[in-house]
Amino acid sequence: MVATIEWKNNKVVMLDQSRLPLEVRFIECADYHMVAEGIKKLWIRGAPAIGIAAAMGIALGAQEIKADSFAGFKKQLETVMQVLLSTRPTAVNIRWAVERIKKLLSANKDEPVSRLKQLLIEEANEILQEDIEINKAIGKWGAEFIKDGDTILTHCNAGSLATGGYGTATAPMLIAAKEQGKRIQVIADETRPVLQGARLTAWELMQAGVPVTLITDNTAGALMKKGTINLVIVGTDRTTRNGDVANKIGTYTVAVLCKEHRIPFYVAAPLSSIDFSMKSGELIPIEERGSEEVTTIWGHRVAPEGVNVINLAFDVTPAKYVSAIFTEKGAFKPGDIKKLAKKDADIEALRLKPR
Ligand code: MRU
Repeated sequence: MVATIEWKNNKVVMLDQSRLPLEVRFIECADYHMVAEGIKKLWIRGAPAIGIAAAMGIALGAQEIKADSFAGFKKQLETVMQVLLSTRPTAVNIRWAVERIKKLLSANKDEPVSRLKQLLIEEANEILQEDIEINKAIGKWGAEFIKDGDTILTHCNAGSLATGGYGTATAPMLIAAKEQGKRIQVIADETRPVLQGARLTAWELMQAGVPVTLITDNTAGALMKKGTINLVIVGTDRTTRNGDVANKIGTYTVAVLCKEHRIPFYVAAPLSSIDFSMKSGELIPIEERGSEEVTTIWGHRVAPEGVNVINLAFDVTPAKYVSAIFTEKGAFKPGDIKKLAKKDADIEALRLKPR
């Protein structure tokens, strides 16, 4: 599997996901503005991946700073952080990365600026490496909920490309299929408007050797009614304290369909995507993107010039539709998610076992 993003020769190199799978092209970002542009234009996308990109963008921005004092360095770095924070509002991972970097800076106030610059590169690389391990752990817990012969529906792309590697929603599938030998099938929603399911999830799973079938978004209900789908696993951009889940537009529709057809609806959520400070899903800022994503497909216009468009990039699925949330610490009821923020939480007792 090709790397989503890496730090190479003092540049941030990202795989251009906006061109996949027709073109496998890497973009070298020489400054943090270009990293920010890449996040906005979906060269890199997916909550954990944009968190990593933000951390690398900050490290890149730091290299350009000319300051001798900690205060001067921090002030200029604030501007870099603000630019990256303003790229995409829904995923909490960018803010999570910024907060982690701020903590690192506070703990190293007495270091010279040259050392701080180095520490920021190391931290960004560490966030990337940790992310892969976290996804494997999510996969281990999530795979317990997958049975031999299951057909799993997923929406958007919460796979390797959306993360440092391995994916969140796809990790349980990979472990079930590749390590546990379970015979599974994956159904990928194409995921309009920009087709992350068709272009990315299908591509990725085919490369990984996991059987995948592509459907249009509006086919999911019919397949559920026929009994084809046994469970759903999706990713998340931000999960709030009460277990509400923001994810790619259309996820809510899938969750409601699951309730009607009594199909478990699971969410794979690294702790970095849980916003313990936010009470509920109505407070999540929902990104609205340009109308051309809806009026065109792959650059070809399909709607009349001048038509009004609503293009919400995400929706929020209330906790009541969520059967379990898979994290790196285990699977939990959405109502128990807030308890994970407590230092003395009895994780073992909170863990949900498959039925
Ligand atoms: O607009 P995108 O492609 O960034 O949306 C991505 C999703 O909705 C993913 O499901 C989510 O970020 C989880 S990625 C592990």
